[in-house]
Amino acid sequence: MAAATPTSYTDKIVKTDEVAEFSPEIIDEMNMHVAKYPLERKRSALIPLLMLVQRERGWIDNPGVNFLARFLDLEVTDVWETATFYSMFNLRPVGRHHIQICKTLSCRIMGEPDITEHVCSRLGIHPGETTADGKFTVSMVECLGSCGTAPMMQIGFDYHEDLTIDKNDKRRDHQRTL
Ligand code: FES
Repeated sequence: MAAATPTSYTDKIVKTDEVAEFSPEIIDEMNMHVAKYPLERKRSALIPLLMLVQRERGWIDNPGVNFLARFLDLEVTDVWETATFYSMFNLRPVGRHHIQICKTLSCRIMGEPDITEHVCSRLGIHPGETTADGKFTVSMVECLGSCGTAPMMQIGFDYHEDLTIDKNDKRRDHQRTL
């Protein structure tokens, strides 16, 4: 399969004044999170609201960030500094299956480089890229807190641990059918 989007997390974020719009139901959901905190500390709801923006828009884009800055009375840079700190926030569109491979020490010494090379070569992409059919994105991330079962990766919200190349192939063949 041919490599697709030559984008990466280090690509420049396109700045725009556009502000995202959300349905009344989503606004209610956002307000529910904001209500968990004292009014003067409503910025504490930023992370769950970023998760909502990502769920609704597929990634954290500039209009979504502009919306959150207005909604929480923050500077746009306040929102970006949180969104860019956590690898769970996608700063560009990702494939239907987002494969996040841990590249930190425990995983690295337990075989991460072989796993990464194998996954990427089977998909025909490099880390940070998405397959042409939009199904798979591979990202390299910092420790996901599962060092005792290294090497590991996260696909969507699921952890896959004690990885071997054989285990990975079985999982991938299953996902091909989804
Ligand atoms: S080093 Fe990979 S999960 Fe911690």
